[in-house]
Amino acid sequence: MVQMHRLSVAIDGPAGAGKSSVARMLAAQLGYIYLDTGAMYRAITYEALRKGLSEKDPKAVSEMAEHMNMKVAEGAQGMEIFLDGNNVTPFLRTEEVSRHVSPVSAIPRVREILVAVQRKLSEGGGVVLDGRDIGTVVLPGADVKVFLTASAEERAKRRFRELKGTPEERPFSSICDNIRRRDAIDAGRAVSPLRAAADAVLIDNSSMTLEETAEAIAVLCRRVQEA
Ligand code: CDP
Ligand code: CDP
Repeated sequence: MVQMHRLSVAIDGPAGAGKSSVARMLAAQLGYIYLDTGAMYRAITYEALRKGLSEKDPKAVSEMAEHMNMKVAEGAQGMEIFLDGNNVTPFLRTEEVSRHVSPVSAIPRVREILVAVQRKLSEGGGVVLDGRDIGTVVLPGADVKVFLTASAEERAKRRFRELKGTPEERPFSSICDNIRRRDAIDAGRAVSPLRAAADAVLIDNSSMTLEETAEAIAVLCRRVQEA
């Protein structure tokens, strides 16, 4: 049997585009590791909030990030994050973390620290990463780069449906506001703004299912494998 080259796959895009669901699905199909880089920024934000630190004090948040003991592991529900040995994954998608994560992610030192971790974990390939700067900064040499998007309305609807009936349920207008605000900060920041890499394939999945989206990216992977 021909030994397949283990690819590195970068999936970037705005909030609610379906990146993490599709990345998880694709990684499972290919037998690759899935790295949710957003969860890493959320973990730093969670820890900063827990310690009473504000993004308005970037020096304090940077110092905290430098001394953080962060580990990632493959759990039953996908990637899990441990801080000082404690699994913080269940606390990363709260409204409070979602409100602060974009300003925390705009702190240059925080990005430097996490980009180094993400590159290290991607060594050797066989990885699918999703985030905002994977194709542009973290893995500029990725074998497959996708910029996944959908209309803001559709993305907010998806998040609304996802949170409905959970303790994080919120009015549609509040979800819409959070998504628009994060998109604006993520795309407007000085360091590693959200944008498609010049060589990324753009996929608008506003009217595609998760399965169709994952298959579209799997086709790109097969093309690279066969080239
Ligand atoms: O899943 P959702 O789109 O809500 O967000 P996420 O992927 O968990 O990312 C949360 C936030 O982390 C984003 O809004 C960005 O501010 C930041 N982030 C980033 O700056 N760079 C990345 N590679 C990933 C996330
Ligand atoms: O990671 P990101 O914020 O880009 O999106 P996600 O967390 O993977 O997806 C947000 C929600 O939209 C999830 O509940 C997905 O199941 C849903 N979704 C969907 O219904 N259809 C798609 N084509 C993509 C995502």
